[in-house]
Amino acid sequence: MKIIHSISEIQQLSRDLAQEGKRIGFVPTMGFLHEGHLSLVNVAKQHSDVVVMSIFVNPTQFGPNEDYDSYPRDAERDQKLAAERGVDYLWMPEVSQMYPKGEQTKVVVTELTRGLCGPFRPGHFMGVTTIVAKLFSALQPQIAVFGEKDYQQLQVIRRMAKDLLMPIEIIGVPTLRDEDGLAKSSRNVYLNEEERKQVLYISQAIKAVQQAVKKGEKQVQKLLSLGKDILAQAPDLQLEYLEIVDAENLQKLEVIQRPARVLIAAYVNHKRFIDNGALT
Ligand code: PAF
Repeated sequence: MKIIHSISEIQQLSRDLAQEGKRIGFVPTMGFLHEGHLSLVNVAKQHSDVVVMSIFVNPTQFGPNEDYDSYPRDAERDQKLAAERGVDYLWMPEVSQMYPKGEQTKVVVTELTRGLCGPFRPGHFMGVTTIVAKLFSALQPQIAVFGEKDYQQLQVIRRMAKDLLMPIEIIGVPTLRDEDGLAKSSRNVYLNEEERKQVLYISQAIKAVQQAVKKGEKQVQKLLSLGKDILAQAPDLQLEYLEIVDAENLQKLEVIQRPARVLIAAYVNHKRFIDNGALT
């Protein structure tokens, strides 16, 4: 595996691979890799000839009171895991390269970012779409792979790629979970044993709503009450939102008649967790 830092090198790689007729599969990450990220590499490999992973903790998607400085980082471990999984090129740019002095260009997806996490994390999705557009622009991959764990992010990026006429196929990969049901996330390292027990109510609520839908419940109000009752059993969990929305446009639903998604965001001891599940 080759490690690349500079933008000119990644642009040259992109040109060389295009000349050789090779398809680039891209896995953008913020590092501190876990099996969830590595499962994205597996999918990228299935759809491409060369896999490029980026590791960049993007400052513009963190709010002023969020964890940019303390976000877990371990470059050495990440390099080892990426190489073992068969990543061909690991791209680790510097902040000054991704945001050159004087930069003033932002990418904004409007409607899809108004609800769910949008109002609670002002500027977050603008930071995500701006950096992903820059990464896409420098590398020009044919496919890019994202986890469904950040479901709103996935839909927002799909919309951005479509609206900006980017010739990139966006592939979403189902969330990987630990045995107890906790969705894999770099931020899980923040959890002590007691907090983990509390966070587990989130995945349990999602599962209960999914099961109720499978048994035939279609009324969203009833499904939301069911989910809230489960979350209420976790004394230290502060719910930010529990919503059931259309799986594509993320609009709130009253009755489930087409592919839908249940999404939850909640805090445990000032640590924020999100999770979601398909309802079809
Ligand atoms: O999901 C992430 O890790 C980040 O939001 C992404 C897509 C790499 C952009 O910084």
